[in-house]
Amino acid sequence: MSAHLTKRTAIVTGASAGIGEAVARTLATDGATVVLNARRETTLSEVVGSINAQIGQEVSTYAAGDCADLVVIESMFTAAESTFGRQADLVVVNAGRGLDGSVLTSDPEQWEEMIRTNLLGAARLMRAAAERMLAAVPDSEHWQDHPRDIVVIGSVVGRNVSPFSSAYGATKFAIHGLTEGLRREVASRGIRVTLIEPAFVESEFQDVAGYDRDWVKGVFDKIGPVLAPADIARTISFVASQPAHVHLSDVLVRPTRQEYP
Ligand SMILES: NC(=O)c1ccc[n+]([C@@H]2O[C@H](COP(=O)([O-])OP(=O)(O)OC[C@H]3O[C@@H](n4cnc5c(N)ncnc54)[C@H](OP(=O)(O)O)[C@@H]3O)[C@@H](O)[C@H]2O)c1
Repeated sequence: MSAHLTKRTAIVTGASAGIGEAVARTLATDGATVVLNARRETTLSEVVGSINAQIGQEVSTYAAGDCADLVVIESMFTAAESTFGRQADLVVVNAGRGLDGSVLTSDPEQWEEMIRTNLLGAARLMRAAAERMLAAVPDSEHWQDHPRDIVVIGSVVGRNVSPFSSAYGATKFAIHGLTEGLRREVASRGIRVTLIEPAFVESEFQDVAGYDRDWVKGVFDKIGPVLAPADIARTISFVASQPAHVHLSDVLVRPTRQEYP
């Protein structure tokens, strides 16, 4: 086990599957203690059990529930302090969902849940994390002693308009703006706010979004191998392990053969 994140305590939302699960596993392997969040409590509990068994210590725990619920958000920070005795200093804002289609073709019945999860949930957690991190660095003198990171999972379709998922992409355009806005707000206090923009990652995302499976297979055959959740997890671990004065603030990760978006 490489231990470059020892002394770091992370919160990872959307950690019962896909990118979030891989991020939680990688951060724990790299030495961090981790609070996992998602709605499926049984799955979360199994992931936590498997991480702890792999590391041989209680390095992870969970706070289950909707990532946009303020009580659940509070419980993530409380779990970090009560289980690990430390304030979270690496918050990965990952929970989210896709939605097939454009303004005209996507299912409008799903807009509200998508916007609540992808935008409201992300914004609330970013604010809660920033408030706590700012309170923990009362002056700007000692920020280099202790890196603090808020890492937000955006998307390549939050930078390029993609007609096949423009409704979903709009939520990612919105959090790209929030992420850069928050970065400018807290950078002088030594807090890094980072945007990760994945392109195609194979996960439960494609089914949840409602993409046609034959279409997905066609795209993956054409541009594959596509990214695995572990590829994004490795990127986040690399970003967070930089010295406090180094900030990789915006990282777009594509499968090599994906030309666009
Ligand atoms: N896969 C891609 O191609 C891709 C590309 C770019 C960006 N992204 C972004 O990457 C992030 C993770 O996606 P993924 O590919 O890992 O998808 P995934 O495999 O479907 O995982 C999504 C995770 O989010 C959780 N989640 C969903 N709604 C939630 C809510 N309201 N509260 C708490 N947790 C919630 C899910 O768990 P529960 O169901 O247990 O709650 C699950 O753990 C998302 O923000 C997505 O937009 C994905």
